[in-house]
Amino acid sequence: MASLCFFSAGIEFRFREVPVGGAALDSTGVPLPDDTLAAAKESDAILLGAIGGYKWDANEKHLKPETGLLQLRAGLGVFANLRPATVLPQLVDSSTLKKEVADGVDIMVVRELTGGIYFGKPRGFGSNDRGEDIGFNTEVYAASEIDRIARVAFEVARKRRGKLCSVDKANVLEASMLWRKRVTGLASEFPDVELSHMYVDNAAMQLIRNPKQFDTIVTNNIFGDILSDEASMLTGSIGMLPSASIGDLGPGLFEPIHGSAPDIAGQDKANPLATVLSAAMLLRYGLGEEEAAKRIEAAVINTLNRGFRTGDIFSGGTTLVGCKQMGEEVLRSVESGKQVA
Ligand code: IPM
Ligand code: MN
Repeated sequence: MASLCFFSAGIEFRFREVPVGGAALDSTGVPLPDDTLAAAKESDAILLGAIGGYKWDANEKHLKPETGLLQLRAGLGVFANLRPATVLPQLVDSSTLKKEVADGVDIMVVRELTGGIYFGKPRGFGSNDRGEDIGFNTEVYAASEIDRIARVAFEVARKRRGKLCSVDKANVLEASMLWRKRVTGLASEFPDVELSHMYVDNAAMQLIRNPKQFDTIVTNNIFGDILSDEASMLTGSIGMLPSASIGDLGPGLFEPIHGSAPDIAGQDKANPLATVLSAAMLLRYGLGEEEAAKRIEAAVINTLNRGFRTGDIFSGGTTLVGCKQMGEEVLRSVESGKQVA
């Protein structure tokens, strides 16, 4: 457990590194050791590295790295997951969409993170009346769970362009019918926000057809998981997308939305920018250090302006670098304090 202390931008940081996921499985036999959760709760904010790997893929569910992450989210009560998908002008050519479709896209997905089918009971394996094996899960939301995430989303939308689109499957699922009813019921508290509703299948299509129609999206845990991966590709690469998970009490959890990319592990190819930008979100939402957050974001932009690209965002006329060099270039930009060109 490393402990490190230093000052930067007038802020004193004390870092403590604790294992979760595969590292925790290897060192302690469980994906979220009690000590890790306790250390997380004692912190002011948590920066999480991406988790998962082939080594543990065949593990039983309670011994999967992903289970450790879900336990951490639940243990910290971080029910609101903010996933911004912003197309930077520097990366518009990295998007698989036409320039005129991707240009200027700026979406915030507010994903419910501690409820729904990820946590709903009953769940498990069994057999049906024909003796066939079955696996089952439950999509369930309580009114209070919907209200609290909707309130966060209205607040987020209010600080952005004032448009909130709630995504559900209310034509089929009871949990979504309640979701729509509760979100609609709160709208009068936020008269400055324009609320709309969309079925998730249509939303998946609209994100590709005309993503600029979206400002803030609020949705349940699983739809948010899927739509945020989709939205990330508008920006050029999932390797660019940070996230912030916040709750009512205790510290927030900040992590890139991508996984651990085990296929390129150890090859110095991964894009570190989603994690770097997660650190910026940590400063903004976790510690209230807006200036420092902006400095990191400006440094990322500056690094892109200087032409550096990892493989996932590489395009003609730019300089291909590995994960390590990309990190060093960002650091150089932070230190030089250069602003967006
Ligand atoms: C994410 C990931 C996780 C999720 C996995 C690793 C459990 O895909 O953060 O989006 O499904 O929430
Ligand atoms: Mn995901």
